[in-house]
Amino acid sequence: MNEKKRVLDVACGSKMFWFDKNNSDVEFCDNRQVPYHEFYPNRYIEIKPDTVCDFTKLPFEDKTYKLVVFDPPHLERVGDNSWTKLKYGRLGGDWRVTIRKGFSECFRVLDDDGVLIFKWSEIQIPLREILPLSPFPPLFGHRSGKNMNTHWLCFMKPKAEG
Ligand SMILES: C[S@@+](CC[C@H](N)C(=O)[O-])C[C@H]1O[C@@H](n2cnc3c(N)ncnc32)[C@H](O)[C@@H]1O
Repeated sequence: MNEKKRVLDVACGSKMFWFDKNNSDVEFCDNRQVPYHEFYPNRYIEIKPDTVCDFTKLPFEDKTYKLVVFDPPHLERVGDNSWTKLKYGRLGGDWRVTIRKGFSECFRVLDDDGVLIFKWSEIQIPLREILPLSPFPPLFGHRSGKNMNTHWLCFMKPKAEG
């Protein structure tokens, strides 16, 4: 773990959206490790975080990072042995508690004025059920994907009161 890194991805999975999957300024975390292998012919996967940890209990000091990325699992119903579950994980029964704690931990480890980027695909669960789980509202967002159901949201840690 390198304390000088400025960016934290708390649920990096296979780092699909990263341009540089070995960016030394980023602490890549996930609660799983998956060795590099071919799942289907020509479909490879590897999940290799720098730190294996739980985003509901991050092993970092308060105010450590300038930018945090939070892309949690977004599906409750997905086949046990499916490619989708392997790539994205699955939400458990108490997922509202999990996501709420995840937001709280992301803001805790963000520095003052730090930025949180949150991604949510509302394939099964609408964004309106997720936003109340964050302690702060987003500043702005963007919808993308074939069905426009993937949301990218930007939050900024509010100034401490007092
Ligand atoms: C939607 S995927 C992330 C995809 C990733 N952003 C990419 O670009 O490939 C969600 C990831 O969250 C991880 N995850 C699920 N629960 C977690 C937890 N409690 N703590 C840390 N990671 C978790 C899963 O293992 C999965 O890899």
